[in-house]
Amino acid sequence: MEIMEKIVSLCKRRGIIFPGSEIYEGITGFWDYGPVGVEMKNNLKREWWKYMVYGREDVVGLDAAIVMNPKVWEASGHVKSFVDPLVECKICHQRFRSDKKSEIDAHEKLHKDEKVDWTEPKMFNILTEVYLGVTEPKQKAYLRGEITQGVFVNFRNVVDSTRVKIPFGIAQIGKAFRNEITPGNFTYRSREFEQMELEYFIKPNEEEGKRWFSKWKETRLEWYKSLGINEKNLRFRDHEVDERAHYARFATDIEYMAPFGWSEFEGIHHRGDWDLSRHKLTYKDSETGEEYTPWVIETSGGVDRAFLFFLIDSYREEEKRIFLKLHPKLAPVKAAVFPLVRNKENIVAKAKDVYKMLKSHFVTAFDDRGNIGKRYLAQDEIGTPYCVTIDYQTLEDGTVTIRDRDTTKQERIKIDELVGTVSKVL
Ligand code: GAP
Repeated sequence: MEIMEKIVSLCKRRGIIFPGSEIYEGITGFWDYGPVGVEMKNNLKREWWKYMVYGREDVVGLDAAIVMNPKVWEASGHVKSFVDPLVECKICHQRFRSDKKSEIDAHEKLHKDEKVDWTEPKMFNILTEVYLGVTEPKQKAYLRGEITQGVFVNFRNVVDSTRVKIPFGIAQIGKAFRNEITPGNFTYRSREFEQMELEYFIKPNEEEGKRWFSKWKETRLEWYKSLGINEKNLRFRDHEVDERAHYARFATDIEYMAPFGWSEFEGIHHRGDWDLSRHKLTYKDSETGEEYTPWVIETSGGVDRAFLFFLIDSYREEEKRIFLKLHPKLAPVKAAVFPLVRNKENIVAKAKDVYKMLKSHFVTAFDDRGNIGKRYLAQDEIGTPYCVTIDYQTLEDGTVTIRDRDTTKQERIKIDELVGTVSKVL
C-alpha cells in the first residue's frame, strides 16, 4: 500500500480525520477531524499562537468574521484576480490546474503512449459565494478566500485600541474557503481549510522589506523544525514572477517533501502596501507625526497542511507495530493508563485514580479493553508518548510501569513521579 493510503486508513481507523458527510457519499474537498484529530489540531494551533503571539512583544491577535462586506473583496482585488487556470484532458475529460506542472505531468504519464491534448486554459474565480437574507434579491457575499483581509480591514481599530507601534504584527487563525478546481491529496487541497497567518506591518522602505522578509522566512522554518519535522524534508522555493499572487511583490514557499512531491505548506509574502492602500488606510507615527502606508510581510501557513505533513513525517512502521513519532507537544493524548487486568477491582480502581489525577494535568486516555499489547498498539498509532500500567506491584509499593513510545522500553517509577516525567517532554 502506498504511504498516503496508509495514512488515510490510519486517520479513519483511529478517529483522526473522516471524510466529510461520509454517510451521504461524502463531499469533495471537505474533511472532518475526529476525537483524536481535533486534539492534535488544537495543539498545533496553540503551539503556533504561543510562538507567534505570546512569545513576542510586537504581535497581537485577532479573530475576524468569515463573511465580510463584498466590497472588501472588490477592493482587495480578489473578485478580479483570485483565479485559477483550468484545462481539460481531451482524452478522458479530467480537469486540472494548468499552473500545477507536477499534476499535469503525472496525468500525462498515466496516458503512457497516447499524446495528451489539453483544452486552452480557462480562468475560474475560486471565491465561494454565499447569499444572505431571506427575501429576494438576497445579498451576495463571499466566504473569505484568505483570512488576511479581516486583519487589514481592522488595521485602524487595532492601532487605535492597543499600544502597537510599527513594526508590529497581527496574528490570526481561522477558516478559509476556496472553490478549488481540483481538491485532492487527502486534506492537502481542500475547499474548506484553516490558515494561521501573521501580517507584519513595517515602514515602507526597501531595506526594511528585505530584512523582515528574510527574518520571517527563517523564523517560520525554525518553528517547524522545533516541532520535530525532519529538516531534510523542508526547503524554501521562491515564486517565479508569473506565479505570484496578485498582491505579492515577491514570495517564497516553505515546502515539504510529501509522498506526492515537494509541496507548499506555508507562503511568505511581501505584500508591500497593496492591501492597506486598496482599503485607503494609513498609519500616523505618534512621535514624529509622519503619516504613511505601511508595507506588509505576511507568513501564511495552512493548519491542515501542517497537520498532514506532521503526520506523514512522524509515521513509522516497525515489524510489529505502526507508530507516530510526533513531538509530545503535538501528540493528541499525552499519556494512557491501563489496569493490567480488568477483573481485579482494586487494580481497576487504582488505575482510575491515576487516570483522574493525570487527566487534571494533560489529555490522558484510559483503556481496559483486550490484552495489554493491543492497548499499546492503539496508543502507538496515535502517537501517545507514554503508557502507564497499574499492576499487582502498584498495590504493594505505589509504583507503576511507564512505557516510552519510541523505544518501547518500560521503567518502574512512583505514581508521584508520573506528572513530572510526562510534563518534562511537554
Ligand atoms: N493570505 C495569503 C494566502 O492565503 P496562499 O499561499 O494562497 O496565501 C496560504 O495560502 C496557505 O494556506 C498555503 O500555504 C496552504 O498551507 C494553505 N492553503 C491554501 N489553499 C489551501 C487549500 N485549498 N487546502 C488546504 N490548505 C490550503
